[in-house]
Amino acid sequence: MIEESALRVAEKELENKGFLDVELDPSLDLFAEIEKLKKQKNAVILAHYYQEPDIQDVADYIGDSLGLAQQAQKTDADIIVFAGVHFMAETAKILNPQKKVLLPDLKAGCSLSDSCPPPLFKKFKEKHPGHVVISYINCSAGIKALSDVICTSSNAKIIVESFPEEQPIIFAPDKNLGAYINKITGRNMVLWDGACMVHEIFSLEKIIKLKVRHPRAKLIAHPECEEAVLKHADFIGSTTGLLKFTQTDDAMEYIVATETGIIHQMMKASPHKTFIPAPPDNSCACNNCPHMKLNTLEKLYLCMQYEKPEILIDEELRLAAKKPIDRMLEISAKAGL
Ligand code: 13P
Ligand code: SF4
Repeated sequence: MIEESALRVAEKELENKGFLDVELDPSLDLFAEIEKLKKQKNAVILAHYYQEPDIQDVADYIGDSLGLAQQAQKTDADIIVFAGVHFMAETAKILNPQKKVLLPDLKAGCSLSDSCPPPLFKKFKEKHPGHVVISYINCSAGIKALSDVICTSSNAKIIVESFPEEQPIIFAPDKNLGAYINKITGRNMVLWDGACMVHEIFSLEKIIKLKVRHPRAKLIAHPECEEAVLKHADFIGSTTGLLKFTQTDDAMEYIVATETGIIHQMMKASPHKTFIPAPPDNSCACNNCPHMKLNTLEKLYLCMQYEKPEILIDEELRLAAKKPIDRMLEISAKAGL
């Protein structure tokens, strides 16, 4: 009885304090504790490649945005712990209203998603009547609800090409991915002026200098990078695409123009190869996504223990945002992705 009330008080304190401030016993084996919690709670951990290595190592599935959405769609776990950023966890919740979806740090947002506020986008859309809207998954539920179909970096070309050539299209929110898709499909989509802070930071000048020092290194780049960087790339692809390329290609050295988290999997898959993060245009570690890196192993453990922060979404918004996601998943499945 005493124990029970003490527990309630402790929980209340925790609520007030913000449970992320809880001091963890440093001797706790978080890997083992997280494994225990997964079993106890029938929870699954889905992690993006940009998460810190410890989180990737404890995850049940690691993938790019499309892979993660597909896993979220088919999981039979009761709890989805999303080690990624808000729009990813929100997508999982949109697909799974009956499940609990947790995000270790609710502040893990996305500069690209933030660059496209729904009220402004609604006006933009009104200025372009007759256009269908294709939105990159890196956007809020509000933008998804204003879209006809969602895409990710691994299926954007297929999604765009699912529309007839003469169909006018708005592509949001990433202008770099949109421009790249315009280039490889010969389309002329109207682009929303948004970008990712991590992929815009690479210095072409420093990359070229690096290439001179490492003449056999191949430059591999994510399509969120600016055109100037993409022009020099030997291979362009989503995070999964980049990882697969390094596994099948015969080069021994790669300059990697995307967030550094992916290098953990590249090194695990090809320990005999060298992976050099593409340098940013200043001395900061800006090619680490500050949003992705808000999640830590400690926060992951706490969020599984206390089952929060939880992603919640208004039902009307959820239904409107689900339609274009379902459409993306259908087109992708038909294309064998
Ligand atoms: P992908 O997961 O599609 O490679 O996109 C990378 C990204 O920026 C996610 O935020
Ligand atoms: Fe958003 Fe860029 Fe971070 Fe991806 S890497 S979550 S697009 S800010």
